[in-house]
Amino acid sequence: MALLEAQGIVSGYGGMEILHGVSVRVEPGQIVTIIGPNGAGKSTLLKAIFGLLWVKAGRVTFNGTDITNWSPERIVRLGMCFVPQTENVFPSLTVQENFEMGAFIRTDDYRARMEEVFELFPDLKARRHVKVGALSGGQRQMVALGRALMLDPKLLLLDEPSAGLAPKMVELIFERIRDINKSGVAIVMVEQNAREALKFSDRGYVLAGGENRFEDTGPALLQNEEIGRLYLGG
Ligand SMILES: Nc1ncnc2c1ncn2[C@@H]1O[C@H](COP(=O)(O)OP(=O)(O)OP(=O)(O)O)[C@@H](O)[C@H]1O
Ligand SMILES: [Mg+2]
Repeated sequence: MALLEAQGIVSGYGGMEILHGVSVRVEPGQIVTIIGPNGAGKSTLLKAIFGLLWVKAGRVTFNGTDITNWSPERIVRLGMCFVPQTENVFPSLTVQENFEMGAFIRTDDYRARMEEVFELFPDLKARRHVKVGALSGGQRQMVALGRALMLDPKLLLLDEPSAGLAPKMVELIFERIRDINKSGVAIVMVEQNAREALKFSDRGYVLAGGENRFEDTGPALLQNEEIGRLYLGG
């Protein structure tokens, strides 16, 4: 059984249809990367899956449950978290306080989980009492990831986790994402650093104009000449 299956998603903003029947499938433990030109509908797809936009037609199934048009609050409780591209941390709070905010729906003792999350991000552990606004862009992205992990999700949706970061930092973020994946969390990410991301993706999807264009394993997409020319800058 797929962990996440979005089938024929039709969605958009108000009366404007952006997704014209998009499908994506994620098996447990996989890393799936969605690429495509600006305005393709990648962010819109994540928002529709996560209940932030109305799904007009199609179906989203998570771990066997039909979650189409559920609220994000209900979806989170099933084990899916979404890290948006911007405004995904509280800059005026410390790293630890951000993690505590991430645990907001937990009624049990989350301190052990917080230490596990700090183990995944050694750079943050030493800075746990620093205000997030004072951190570098890459460290802030790690706080956003760590915050989502506080709920012990089965699946993370990441919208451009490496956006705006220097190449070295991109590498580091991708390394952390692979660590998170190895800890048992499936990943769906939208990425502009497509070549780097596809290298370690179990599957890649190309979206354009609100439709599926291609899908294959990450490495196979990288070897596809047409994909290279059209979507990976030659
Ligand atoms: N809040 C909004 N209201 C109305 N239209 C929107 C809104 N957000 C996005 N759109 C439009 O929806 C289309 C798809 O946008 P989306 O953000 O999903 O693209 P994307 O593939 O994530 O692109 P990018 O690579 O630039 O992030 C675009 O035409 C965009 O202008
Ligand atoms: Mg986007």
